[in-house]
Amino acid sequence: MSAEGMPAGIQALSSSREEAGRLARRLGLPLYVIDTHAFPDGEIRVTIGAAAATTILFASLDRPNDKLIALLFAAEALRRGGCRRIVLVAPYLCYMRQDAAFRDGETISQRAIGRMLANTVDRIVTVDAHLHRTAAIGDVFPGIRADNLSAMPAIAAVLRTAPYDRSTVVVGPDAESAGWVGELAGLLGLAHQVARKSRRGDRSVEIEFSDRAALRGRPMLLADDIVSSGGTLITCAEALRHAGAASIEAVITHALYPPELRGAFARAGIHSLRSCCSVPHPTNAFPLDGLFADALADELGHRQESRP
Ligand code: R5P
Repeated sequence: MSAEGMPAGIQALSSSREEAGRLARRLGLPLYVIDTHAFPDGEIRVTIGAAAATTILFASLDRPNDKLIALLFAAEALRRGGCRRIVLVAPYLCYMRQDAAFRDGETISQRAIGRMLANTVDRIVTVDAHLHRTAAIGDVFPGIRADNLSAMPAIAAVLRTAPYDRSTVVVGPDAESAGWVGELAGLLGLAHQVARKSRRGDRSVEIEFSDRAALRGRPMLLADDIVSSGGTLITCAEALRHAGAASIEAVITHALYPPELRGAFARAGIHSLRSCCSVPHPTNAFPLDGLFADALADELGHRQESRP
């Protein structure tokens, strides 16, 4: 079928097939899982499905290097097939944390990836991109529309389905988490507090709370955007235990850590850790297809019912 005959469709890298499938069902769009063949020499061949005039290219960019090449190739085939608009839905957007050259000669990976993707697709939709020194997501992607959605409504919607202790404090491990923590606390009607973090290395941080008295004897809901080495969450949980927290539960957007860290989190006192379905992981508990459907409604010429 030509792009003229198919107004819209979703094509997904196979690593994102589940979340893309949920979105396709919600939007009533056809889904094609892109085929990637690895040659013995390490090069890849990418085969897409029939190009729709507007194609949602769905790829979460954790462990990103091979996926970025697959996206470039898929976009080439889509354009040649007549696709007029490519919307990249990347629930996790890679390389956002390297947003400055900290030493002579270091690359600003965020800038390089931003330019590459802006030259490849027409719009980017992502969730809780880690923008620390960059004011807005539009600054990362020159010349195209980019939306950085908050996962907090999707997390709050699930948390609200079970009773929770109204004395719970929503806690963030560092200044960067302040926005998410404040939003989640507001949605749940809970108090919140954000710690001060100093990073000593890739896996080692120090965390301090300014008002420990406000934490004593209360349940904690620890919230962060990314868990990678787990160092931030573990150190934060230890600081909360020293402050006398009654219990610690954690909710995060992007689970980038190996599931074997489960024991280390339990030893640090975290009794439950749940993540958004942005990166496939055993802790996935918060689907994001409702957020994406709302964000994409204008691409598809109709409004979706608002559901988290
Ligand atoms: C950093 O500021 C982020 O918000 C996360 O706290 C950080 O990336 C987590 O990394 P890790 O799990 O390696 O401590």
